[in-house]
Amino acid sequence: MTIDGTSSEGTSADREQLEFRRRLTAMFGESPLPPEHLMFNLGLYTRSSVLVKFLFMHDVYQRIRNLPGALIELGVWWGQNLVLLENLRAILEPFNKQRQILGFDTFSGYRTFTEKDAVSDVMADGTYSTPEGYREYLERLLEAHEGANAFGHRRNLHRLIEGDACETVPRYFAQHPETLVAMAFFDIGTYQPTIAALEAMRGSLMPGSVLVFDQLTWSGAPGEAIAFKEMFRDIDYAVEKSVLYPSKAIVTIR
Ligand SMILES: C[S@@+](CC[C@H](N)C(=O)[O-])C[C@H]1O[C@@H](n2cnc3c(N)ncnc32)[C@H](O)[C@@H]1O
Repeated sequence: MTIDGTSSEGTSADREQLEFRRRLTAMFGESPLPPEHLMFNLGLYTRSSVLVKFLFMHDVYQRIRNLPGALIELGVWWGQNLVLLENLRAILEPFNKQRQILGFDTFSGYRTFTEKDAVSDVMADGTYSTPEGYREYLERLLEAHEGANAFGHRRNLHRLIEGDACETVPRYFAQHPETLVAMAFFDIGTYQPTIAALEAMRGSLMPGSVLVFDQLTWSGAPGEAIAFKEMFRDIDYAVEKSVLYPSKAIVTIR
Protein backbone atom coordinates (compact mmCIF):
# COMPACT_ATOMS: atom_id res chain seq x y z
CA MET A 1 0.00 0.00 0.00
CA THR A 2 1.01 3.57 -0.46
CA ILE A 3 0.92 6.03 2.37
CA ASP A 4 -2.68 7.03 1.66
CA GLY A 5 -3.87 3.45 1.64
CA THR A 6 -4.09 2.99 -2.11
CA SER A 7 -2.62 0.08 -4.01
CA SER A 8 0.92 0.56 -5.24
CA GLU A 9 -0.35 -0.63 -8.61
CA GLY A 10 -1.71 2.91 -8.70
CA THR A 11 -4.68 4.43 -6.98
CA SER A 12 -8.00 4.14 -8.75
CA ALA A 13 -8.65 7.75 -7.76
CA ASP A 14 -8.33 10.21 -10.61
CA ARG A 15 -6.48 13.49 -10.42
CA GLU A 16 -9.54 15.42 -9.29
CA GLN A 17 -10.22 12.96 -6.46
CA LEU A 18 -6.60 13.17 -5.35
CA GLU A 19 -6.93 16.95 -5.30
CA PHE A 20 -9.94 16.66 -2.99
CA ARG A 21 -8.02 14.27 -0.73
CA ARG A 22 -5.20 16.79 -0.51
CA ARG A 23 -7.74 19.46 0.30
CA LEU A 24 -9.10 17.34 3.17
CA THR A 25 -5.56 16.84 4.50
CA ALA A 26 -4.90 20.58 4.32
CA MET A 27 -8.22 21.39 6.01
CA PHE A 28 -7.37 18.93 8.79
CA GLY A 29 -3.99 20.63 9.28
CA GLU A 30 -5.72 24.01 9.49
CA SER A 31 -8.75 22.87 11.46
CA PRO A 32 -10.47 25.66 13.40
CA LEU A 33 -11.58 23.13 16.05
CA PRO A 34 -9.73 23.24 19.37
CA PRO A 35 -7.87 19.91 20.06
CA GLU A 36 -10.43 18.50 22.51
CA HIS A 37 -13.25 19.12 19.99
CA LEU A 38 -11.13 17.84 17.12
CA MET A 39 -10.52 14.57 18.99
CA PHE A 40 -14.25 14.15 19.44
CA ASN A 41 -15.12 15.03 15.84
CA LEU A 42 -12.49 13.20 13.79
CA GLY A 43 -15.26 11.94 11.51
CA LEU A 44 -15.25 15.41 9.95
CA TYR A 45 -12.04 14.44 8.18
CA THR A 46 -12.33 10.64 7.95
CA ARG A 47 -12.57 9.53 4.33
CA SER A 48 -14.70 6.56 3.26
CA SER A 49 -11.53 4.62 2.40
CA VAL A 50 -10.43 5.00 6.03
CA LEU A 51 -13.87 4.44 7.54
CA VAL A 52 -14.11 1.11 5.72
CA LYS A 53 -11.06 -0.12 7.65
CA PHE A 54 -12.93 0.48 10.89
CA LEU A 55 -16.01 -1.33 9.58
CA PHE A 56 -13.89 -4.21 8.31
CA MET A 57 -12.18 -4.65 11.67
CA HIS A 58 -15.56 -4.64 13.40
CA ASP A 59 -16.75 -7.39 11.04
CA VAL A 60 -13.64 -9.46 11.82
CA TYR A 61 -13.97 -8.93 15.57
CA GLN A 62 -17.61 -10.06 15.54
CA ARG A 63 -16.54 -13.36 14.01
CA ILE A 64 -14.22 -14.29 16.88
CA ARG A 65 -16.08 -12.81 19.80
CA ASN A 66 -17.10 -16.24 21.08
CA LEU A 67 -13.55 -17.63 20.93
CA PRO A 68 -10.77 -17.50 23.50
CA GLY A 69 -7.36 -16.36 22.40
CA ALA A 70 -5.29 -13.42 21.26
CA LEU A 71 -5.79 -10.85 18.53
CA ILE A 72 -2.57 -10.54 16.57
CA GLU A 73 -1.29 -8.18 13.92
CA LEU A 74 1.78 -9.03 11.86
CA GLY A 75 2.98 -5.76 10.44
CA VAL A 76 1.80 -2.95 12.69
CA TRP A 77 3.30 0.18 11.08
CA TRP A 78 1.73 3.17 12.95
CA GLY A 79 -0.53 0.81 14.92
CA GLN A 80 -3.98 2.08 13.98
CA ASN A 81 -5.37 -1.46 13.77
CA LEU A 82 -4.13 -2.26 17.28
CA VAL A 83 -5.84 0.85 18.64
CA LEU A 84 -9.01 -0.12 16.78
CA LEU A 85 -8.84 -3.60 18.26
CA GLU A 86 -8.38 -2.19 21.75
CA ASN A 87 -11.41 0.04 21.31
CA LEU A 88 -13.51 -2.74 19.79
CA ARG A 89 -12.47 -4.96 22.71
CA ALA A 90 -13.72 -2.30 25.11
CA ILE A 91 -17.04 -2.00 23.25
CA LEU A 92 -17.71 -5.65 22.44
CA GLU A 93 -16.32 -7.49 25.45
CA PRO A 94 -15.32 -5.12 28.24
CA PHE A 95 -15.38 -7.92 30.81
CA ASN A 96 -12.90 -10.09 28.95
CA LYS A 97 -9.65 -9.70 30.88
CA GLN A 98 -7.82 -12.33 28.85
CA ARG A 99 -8.16 -10.90 25.35
CA GLN A 100 -4.56 -10.13 24.58
CA ILE A 101 -3.65 -7.87 21.68
CA LEU A 102 -0.24 -8.57 20.17
CA GLY A 103 1.59 -6.62 17.49
CA PHE A 104 4.76 -7.77 15.73
CA ASP A 105 6.92 -5.37 13.72
CA THR A 106 10.53 -4.41 13.21
CA PHE A 107 9.41 -0.76 13.63
CA SER A 108 12.33 -0.08 11.29
CA GLY A 109 10.52 -1.14 8.14
CA TYR A 110 10.78 -3.99 5.70
CA ARG A 111 13.50 -6.60 5.72
CA THR A 112 13.95 -10.27 4.76
CA PHE A 113 13.06 -10.31 1.08
CA THR A 114 13.57 -13.59 -0.80
CA GLU A 115 13.26 -14.64 -4.43
CA LYS A 116 9.60 -15.40 -3.65
CA ASP A 117 8.89 -11.71 -3.08
CA ALA A 118 8.48 -8.74 -5.38
CA VAL A 119 10.52 -5.67 -4.50
CA SER A 120 9.01 -2.32 -5.43
CA ASP A 121 9.09 1.34 -4.41
CA VAL A 122 6.71 0.66 -1.52
CA MET A 123 8.09 -2.73 -0.52
CA ALA A 124 11.88 -2.58 -0.22
CA ASP A 125 14.41 -2.73 2.61
CA GLY A 126 13.48 -0.05 5.14
CA THR A 127 10.14 1.13 3.71
CA TYR A 128 7.39 1.66 6.31
CA SER A 129 9.94 2.46 8.99
CA THR A 130 8.75 4.51 11.95
CA PRO A 131 10.78 7.16 13.79
CA GLU A 132 13.15 6.22 16.62
CA GLY A 133 11.17 5.47 19.77
CA TYR A 134 7.87 4.93 17.96
CA ARG A 135 7.21 1.55 19.61
CA GLU A 136 7.37 3.23 23.02
CA TYR A 137 5.04 5.99 21.79
CA LEU A 138 2.55 3.40 20.53
CA GLU A 139 2.76 1.54 23.84
CA ARG A 140 1.87 4.73 25.69
CA LEU A 141 -0.94 5.40 23.21
CA LEU A 142 -2.41 1.93 23.72
CA GLU A 143 -2.08 2.34 27.46
CA ALA A 144 -3.94 5.67 27.28
CA HIS A 145 -6.77 4.13 25.24
CA GLU A 146 -6.97 1.15 27.56
CA GLY A 147 -6.99 3.41 30.60
CA ALA A 148 -9.67 5.68 29.11
CA ASN A 149 -11.93 2.76 28.22
CA ALA A 150 -14.46 1.07 30.49
CA PHE A 151 -12.76 -0.99 33.19
CA GLY A 152 -9.54 0.74 32.21
CA HIS A 153 -8.04 -0.05 35.58
CA ARG A 154 -7.55 -3.62 34.33
CA ARG A 155 -4.60 -2.84 32.10
CA ASN A 156 -1.77 -4.58 30.36
CA LEU A 157 -3.52 -6.54 27.64
CA HIS A 158 -1.17 -5.37 24.89
CA ARG A 159 2.25 -6.49 23.76
CA LEU A 160 4.33 -4.89 21.01
CA ILE A 161 7.06 -7.28 19.97
CA GLU A 162 9.86 -5.56 18.11
CA GLY A 163 12.14 -7.36 15.66
CA ASP A 164 12.11 -9.59 12.61
CA ALA A 165 8.90 -11.64 12.72
CA CYS A 166 10.84 -14.65 11.34
CA GLU A 167 12.40 -14.85 14.81
CA THR A 168 10.03 -13.00 17.13
CA VAL A 169 6.83 -14.91 16.33
CA PRO A 170 8.28 -18.45 16.82
CA ARG A 171 10.03 -17.22 19.98
CA TYR A 172 6.84 -15.66 21.36
CA PHE A 173 4.79 -18.81 20.83
CA ALA A 174 7.55 -20.99 22.33
CA GLN A 175 7.74 -18.73 25.40
CA HIS A 176 3.95 -18.41 25.77
CA PRO A 177 2.52 -21.90 25.29
CA GLU A 178 -0.81 -20.70 26.74
CA THR A 179 -1.42 -18.55 23.64
CA LEU A 180 -4.34 -19.42 21.36
CA VAL A 181 -5.02 -17.46 18.19
CA ALA A 182 -8.53 -16.06 17.89
CA MET A 183 -7.55 -13.72 15.04
CA ALA A 184 -4.33 -12.98 13.20
CA PHE A 185 -4.02 -10.23 10.64
CA PHE A 186 -1.20 -10.90 8.17
CA ASP A 187 -0.01 -7.59 6.78
CA ILE A 188 3.71 -8.00 6.18
CA GLY A 189 3.20 -9.58 2.79
CA THR A 190 6.66 -11.09 2.32
CA TYR A 191 7.23 -14.83 2.27
CA GLN A 192 9.61 -15.58 5.14
CA PRO A 193 7.92 -13.76 8.02
CA THR A 194 4.50 -14.93 6.79
CA ILE A 195 5.42 -18.62 6.64
CA ALA A 196 7.40 -18.42 9.90
CA ALA A 197 4.41 -16.90 11.67
CA LEU A 198 1.94 -19.37 10.17
CA GLU A 199 4.10 -22.31 11.24
CA ALA A 200 4.57 -20.88 14.74
CA MET A 201 0.82 -20.38 15.15
CA ARG A 202 -0.34 -23.60 13.61
CA GLY A 203 -0.67 -25.48 16.92
CA SER A 204 -2.53 -22.53 18.46
CA LEU A 205 -5.34 -22.34 15.90
CA MET A 206 -8.83 -23.58 16.75
CA PRO A 207 -12.02 -24.22 14.80
CA GLY A 208 -13.32 -20.69 14.19
CA SER A 209 -9.92 -18.95 14.34
CA VAL A 210 -9.82 -16.19 11.74
CA LEU A 211 -6.74 -15.32 9.71
CA VAL A 212 -6.90 -12.18 7.62
CA PHE A 213 -4.59 -11.76 4.65
CA ASP A 214 -4.25 -8.17 3.58
CA GLN A 215 -3.46 -8.62 -0.10
CA LEU A 216 -3.65 -12.33 -0.80
CA THR A 217 -3.82 -12.17 -4.59
CA TRP A 218 -1.84 -8.99 -5.20
CA SER A 219 1.05 -9.44 -7.64
CA GLY A 220 3.00 -6.81 -5.67
CA ALA A 221 3.33 -9.22 -2.72
CA PRO A 222 3.31 -12.81 -4.06
CA GLY A 223 5.11 -14.11 -0.96
CA GLU A 224 1.87 -13.91 1.01
CA ALA A 225 -0.02 -16.25 -1.33
CA ILE A 226 2.95 -18.63 -1.63
CA ALA A 227 3.13 -18.96 2.15
CA PHE A 228 -0.65 -19.34 2.37
CA LYS A 229 -0.75 -22.14 -0.22
CA GLU A 230 2.12 -24.01 1.42
CA MET A 231 0.60 -23.79 4.86
CA PHE A 232 -3.00 -24.58 4.05
CA ARG A 233 -2.42 -27.73 2.01
CA ASP A 234 -3.54 -29.95 4.86
CA ILE A 235 -5.64 -27.61 7.01
CA ASP A 236 -9.42 -27.56 6.70
CA TYR A 237 -10.52 -23.97 6.15
CA ALA A 238 -13.03 -21.69 4.45
CA VAL A 239 -11.95 -18.56 2.63
CA GLU A 240 -13.87 -15.53 1.47
CA LYS A 241 -13.13 -12.12 0.06
CA SER A 242 -14.28 -9.33 2.35
CA VAL A 243 -17.47 -7.77 1.01
CA LEU A 244 -16.48 -4.47 2.58
CA TYR A 245 -12.84 -4.43 1.58
CA PRO A 246 -12.32 -6.55 -1.53
CA SER A 247 -8.52 -6.86 -1.35
CA LYS A 248 -8.70 -8.59 2.03
CA ALA A 249 -9.21 -12.34 2.35
CA ILE A 250 -10.75 -13.86 5.47
CA VAL A 251 -9.77 -17.44 6.26
CA THR A 252 -11.71 -19.35 8.92
CA ILE A 253 -10.33 -22.58 10.34
CA ARG A 254 -12.85 -25.44 10.33
C1 LIG B 1 2.03 -2.63 5.09
S1 LIG B 1 2.78 -2.28 6.62
C2 LIG B 1 1.54 -2.71 7.79
C3 LIG B 1 0.34 -1.78 7.74
C4 LIG B 1 -0.59 -1.89 8.93
N1 LIG B 1 -1.02 -3.26 9.16
C5 LIG B 1 -1.80 -1.03 8.68
O1 LIG B 1 -2.87 -1.55 8.27
O2 LIG B 1 -1.69 0.19 8.85
C6 LIG B 1 3.91 -3.62 6.79
C7 LIG B 1 4.68 -3.63 8.08
O3 LIG B 1 5.46 -4.83 8.14
C8 LIG B 1 6.67 -4.55 8.83
N2 LIG B 1 7.67 -5.57 8.47
C9 LIG B 1 8.26 -5.77 7.27
N3 LIG B 1 9.12 -6.82 7.31
C10 LIG B 1 9.05 -7.31 8.58
C11 LIG B 1 9.68 -8.39 9.25
N4 LIG B 1 10.55 -9.20 8.63
N5 LIG B 1 9.37 -8.59 10.56
C12 LIG B 1 8.49 -7.78 11.21
N6 LIG B 1 7.87 -6.74 10.61
C13 LIG B 1 8.13 -6.50 9.32
C14 LIG B 1 7.03 -3.15 8.38
O4 LIG B 1 7.88 -2.52 9.31
C15 LIG B 1 5.65 -2.48 8.25
O5 LIG B 1 5.33 -1.76 9.40
